[in-house]
Amino acid sequence: MVKPSVLVTRRWPAAVEAQLTENYNAVLNTGDKPMSPAEFRDALKSYDAVLPTVTDTLSAEALDVPAAQTKILANYGVGYSHICEPSARNLGMTVTNTPDVLSECTADLAMTLLLMVARRAGEGERELRAGDWSGWRPTHLVGTKVSGKTLGIIGFGRIGQEMARRAHHGFGMKILVQNRSAVSAEVLKQFNAAQVETVDDLLPQCDFVSLHCPGGSTNRHLINGRRLDLMKPDAFLINTARGEVVDEHALVQSLMFDTIGGAALDVFDGEPRISPDLLQCDNLVMLPHLGSATRESREAMGFRVLDNLSDFFAGRTPRDQVI
Ligand code: DGY
Repeated sequence: MVKPSVLVTRRWPAAVEAQLTENYNAVLNTGDKPMSPAEFRDALKSYDAVLPTVTDTLSAEALDVPAAQTKILANYGVGYSHICEPSARNLGMTVTNTPDVLSECTADLAMTLLLMVARRAGEGERELRAGDWSGWRPTHLVGTKVSGKTLGIIGFGRIGQEMARRAHHGFGMKILVQNRSAVSAEVLKQFNAAQVETVDDLLPQCDFVSLHCPGGSTNRHLINGRRLDLMKPDAFLINTARGEVVDEHALVQSLMFDTIGGAALDVFDGEPRISPDLLQCDNLVMLPHLGSATRESREAMGFRVLDNLSDFFAGRTPRDQVI
C-alpha cells in the first residue's frame, strides 16, 4: 500500500520525526524556516496531510486553492486560531489539535511568570547581569506576596484548571473563574473556586489575573484599556494564551502609568515581533512563547499528532478533531 504523503512545516522532536518517516512518505522541514502563503498553497495541492503549528498563518490567502490534495491539517499545538476555520471547512479539511499533553507544563509556565512578576525576578536578574547589584538591603527590589492572594482565571479549560490546582493547592490562593460556559460544581470544588458571570465582574476582585482562553477574532483585545482600568492598581496580568487577547498598546499605557502592578507575557500579538514599547516597561516579564516547551510535552504533542493521523488514514474520526 502506498503510504500517505505528509509535510511537516517545522522541526519536531527527533523521536517523533523518526516515527513520522517510518509511517508516512514524510517531508521534514530540516531548515526549520517558516513557510510563506505561496509555499502553503503549493503544499496543499500535493500532500495528503500538512502538519502545521502556531507559527504557520493558514489564512484565507494561504488556504485559497481550488482543489486541495490535503484532506487533514494535523496541527501540532492546542491552539488553532492561526487556521482560518471557514476556509478549512470550505475545502472539506479535517483539522486536529493536541490538547491535554501540554496542560501541566503550560500551567507550570504561567505559574513561573506569576511568581517572576510578583517577586521582580526579571528585574533582579537584569540588575545582577548588568553588574549593578550593590548588595542586600531591606528596601531592595521588594515585591508582592503571592500566597493567600486572589487569582482570577479567564478560560477554565484544561490549562486553566491546572493553573488553579497549582495556585490553590501550592500557594493557598483563592480562585475566581470566568468561563464561557458554566463550570460544574464538582470541578469548582476541587479548587474551592467560585465562578463569576463576566470578565468585568472578575477583574476588580483579583490580585492576579491569568488568561487561559482561546485566541482568534472572538477574544481579540478581550483585555483592553477599559478592562485594564477595572483591575486593582497593584494587580498583575499573566498571559500564556494568545497575544491577540491583550491590547498591547493599552497594556503599555497601564504599565507606564502604573495603573496596574505589572504583567508577564509568554505570547505576543504578531509574534515574534515585539512592540518596542513593551521593552521599555520594567514591571513586565517576557518569555518567548515557552508554555509547552518541555521535552516531555513537545514529544507527547508530536505523538498525539501521529495518533490523529493514524485514525484519519484508517477512516476513523481522530480523537482531537476540532474542525
Ligand atoms: C499551543 O499548543 O497552542 C501552544 O501555544 C504552542 O505550544
